[in-house]
Amino acid sequence: MLSKLPDVGTTIFTTMSKMAGDYNAINLSQGFPNFPTDEILIDLIRKNAGANIHQYAPMAGLPSLLEGISNLVHKCYTRDLNPIENILVTAGATQAIFTTIQALVHKDDEVIILDPSYDCYEAPIILAGAKPIRIPLNALFLPDWENIFKQTNDKTRLIITNNPHNPSGSVWTEHDLRLLEKLILKHPNLAVLSDEVYEFITFEKAHFSVNSSEILRDRSVVVSSFGKTFHITGWKIGYIIASETLMIEIKKVHQFLVFCVNSLAQACISDYLKVTKVESLGVFYKIKRDFFREKMKSSRFELFPCDGTYFQIASYKSISIESDLDFSKRLVKEFGVAAIPLSVFNGNQDDQKLIRFCFAKDEQTLISATERLCKI
Ligand SMILES: Cc1ncc(COP(=O)(O)O)c(C=O)c1O
Repeated sequence: MLSKLPDVGTTIFTTMSKMAGDYNAINLSQGFPNFPTDEILIDLIRKNAGANIHQYAPMAGLPSLLEGISNLVHKCYTRDLNPIENILVTAGATQAIFTTIQALVHKDDEVIILDPSYDCYEAPIILAGAKPIRIPLNALFLPDWENIFKQTNDKTRLIITNNPHNPSGSVWTEHDLRLLEKLILKHPNLAVLSDEVYEFITFEKAHFSVNSSEILRDRSVVVSSFGKTFHITGWKIGYIIASETLMIEIKKVHQFLVFCVNSLAQACISDYLKVTKVESLGVFYKIKRDFFREKMKSSRFELFPCDGTYFQIASYKSISIESDLDFSKRLVKEFGVAAIPLSVFNGNQDDQKLIRFCFAKDEQTLISATERLCKI
């Protein structure tokens, strides 16, 4: 059978996590927390499990959750939303991104991806019969606007942005947001798909969300993930914020892809949003970032700046000249730590001798991992 995705195989995240298991290594590869979920949320599962909440939820989401998301977005970005028209609860950011691309991108359109980029953007573009245009980020892992302006044309339907950025941990400046506005104003057919799943994980620098821009709001789809915000990646629940015009199209696809999202998870998160503070997330992960970086000081790895997310990029140039994939494999087998090679995030597999560690781990895991890394 002719494959629709001939170049797609098992993702590196599956491969490295499996290797971590096979070699009994500490897994700093895949981006998930290994500490316990908040007891308050666990209690809310118990409470809601006994409620009449086990049948299909409304297509766009439980009204109480839509209301909760609307309040959150208003509080964080002073953006006023109509919960019915502008918000869609999704089965994680991955479904949100897939659904948006299927809904908005036509055959032979072009879609800009900024490399290195998270791995779920390209396949839905290809399935839509469109062309991914991969443009490298600059040396600071921020958008290279000159190149983006050059490569945007009448066929460009979407630009996919990711801020705060996985894998680099970079965070946009206000200037980046202003240049995105300029790009959108110049190209009437263009829309933005803004992947902001780490929106609440920034440290010294503020997060400039597309939600906060009056110019971008009507021409953008903003995606977030409760998996990242509430340390529950396995729940696979997130949401889309979009203008009514874009949302009408997105819902057409959503209703035939999943129709609606896990009702129990929606009820629990709706309750949890009333009692938790997303503002504390940055402080929580800043402590982990600082701890990890401090412990890595005596290692031979060179750590890049990390302004957001729970990922730390490290160069191993002074340790080895191996490819990043070979080095990552040897790291698991010989030193017992799993990381992700950065080349897999680049369309052209560009190898800069960089690997990515996830520091969303408990203190003991970070201590054990850094002890091993410092011995290399
Ligand atoms: C940048 C980025 N976008 C999207 C996702 C997918 O999020 P979800 O697990 O909610 O589907 C991830 C998960 O790691 C991510 O890092």
